[in-house]
Amino acid sequence: MMKAMLIIGNWKSYVEKKEDAKTLAASVKRLAGKTKHKLVIAPPAPYLALLAGDKRALVKTASQDVSDTAGGAATGEISAATVRAAGASYAIIGHSERRARGESDALIADKLVRAFAAGLIPVLCVGEKERDANASYLQTLRTQIESALTKITPKERTKVVFAYEPVWAIGKTAAEAASPRDVAEMMLYIKKVLAPLGAEKATVLYGGSVEPANAKALMKEGGVSGFLVGHASADQKTFAALVAAVS
Ligand code: PGA
Repeated sequence: MMKAMLIIGNWKSYVEKKEDAKTLAASVKRLAGKTKHKLVIAPPAPYLALLAGDKRALVKTASQDVSDTAGGAATGEISAATVRAAGASYAIIGHSERRARGESDALIADKLVRAFAAGLIPVLCVGEKERDANASYLQTLRTQIESALTKITPKERTKVVFAYEPVWAIGKTAAEAASPRDVAEMMLYIKKVLAPLGAEKATVLYGGSVEPANAKALMKEGGVSGFLVGHASADQKTFAALVAAVS
């Protein structure tokens, strides 16, 4: 029997209409009642409070980001405390689409501190832009992980959910995603980086074109604790097919 995974649906900015957000969330709730896997949704921030439910909600919510500020004079920022107050349990931090907009490792480290202070579990995204023959992408990954964890306590490090998301595999199709074998190798590498930090038992997800077609193989051969799903989570039927494929 495969163990239960954590599957986070990152809706990105795909879901814009309120009715669509409600319908999609209701469908995920139905799926959650039928699978052993833990399903989490990460809607656009304005819908967090609408979709969060109460403490006992079967489907928990995640924000797609949090601010590194502690509230106050920070126009447009969404503080971790606000995200928590809106009912979210998790916060995606350091997503490659945020890094592409200029987020540094130092900023990401601050965001992890804010998330924990507010009672949120950070979902830290790491991943190389491309692979090179000298395998220097491994060093990129190590730096991303180590610098993100510099400002939190050893105990907090064990609670971080890591998401390995190679940028070259994001927003493509199952055929272009990382192969289960690739993913298995990277899971081992990440655990090796996490071991001296005392976090080798942390949850490590894979993200990057997880679709109904490759989810099962990634689960069986990828050595993952779950998935961070982008485009395939923003469509009701596709996400239902994905959950069915691994259930
Ligand atoms: P994708 O996105 O599944 O659309 O590739 C994953 C992610 O960026 O979290």
